[in-house]
Amino acid sequence: MKRTWFDQLAPAWDSLPGQPDTAARAQTFLQKVVPPGCFALLDAGAGTGVLVEPLLRLPAPPARIVELDFAPAMLAENRRKHAARPQVRYVCADLSAPPFPAASFGCALLFGALPHVENQRAALAALLEILRPGGRLAVGHLMSSGALNALHASIGGAVAADRLPPASELAALLASLGARVLLAEESPQEYTVLVEKSA
Ligand SMILES: C[S@@+](CC[C@H](N)C(=O)[O-])C[C@H]1O[C@@H](n2cnc3c(N)ncnc32)[C@H](O)[C@@H]1O
Repeated sequence: MKRTWFDQLAPAWDSLPGQPDTAARAQTFLQKVVPPGCFALLDAGAGTGVLVEPLLRLPAPPARIVELDFAPAMLAENRRKHAARPQVRYVCADLSAPPFPAASFGCALLFGALPHVENQRAALAALLEILRPGGRLAVGHLMSSGALNALHASIGGAVAADRLPPASELAALLASLGARVLLAEESPQEYTVLVEKSA
């Protein structure tokens, strides 16, 4: 099962070979997608918390950051690293059924997480539901969809078939859910789809 797969990797996750300059590139992604004045932000599929410090370095960081993941060991690692950060809360849950009332967040992020989600359409609809009107949902990766899908196939095991749709395809899916597309772009170095929940 996928949750177990991530849990087993948790202690070593931060030392696995990753993208060069991950923190700096994550910061660039956040500067593009987090709306100024966002009070509460959900980091869905947060893992060990690669976005926490870059989020706190934004010129106007969110007052409340919720780190959500369904793998308890990934979340435990995240909590251990950021224990001194009072703005950060931790929630162990499936992002396809986020345990929050409607209109709870000004922004929700899926950074490196969407391909691993079983029913992507249902998960995206659920995340839009917990955004307030005018809130933003952003999907980000540090490579193109083609490169990521090839990487998952080469890793094999639980993630072998995990697929990120091309940015244009994901944007069309989000538009069909009623969101307004603000950005849909990908290159060998990055992938960003940003939408706004209609008022
Ligand atoms: C590739 S890791 C990325 C973690 C982190 N965002 C990063 O960029 O380092 C994907 C994360 O999504 C989590 N995840 C996958 N499917 C999930 C789901 N349905 N609900 C909640 N978390 C999920 C996994 O447990 C894992 O921690």
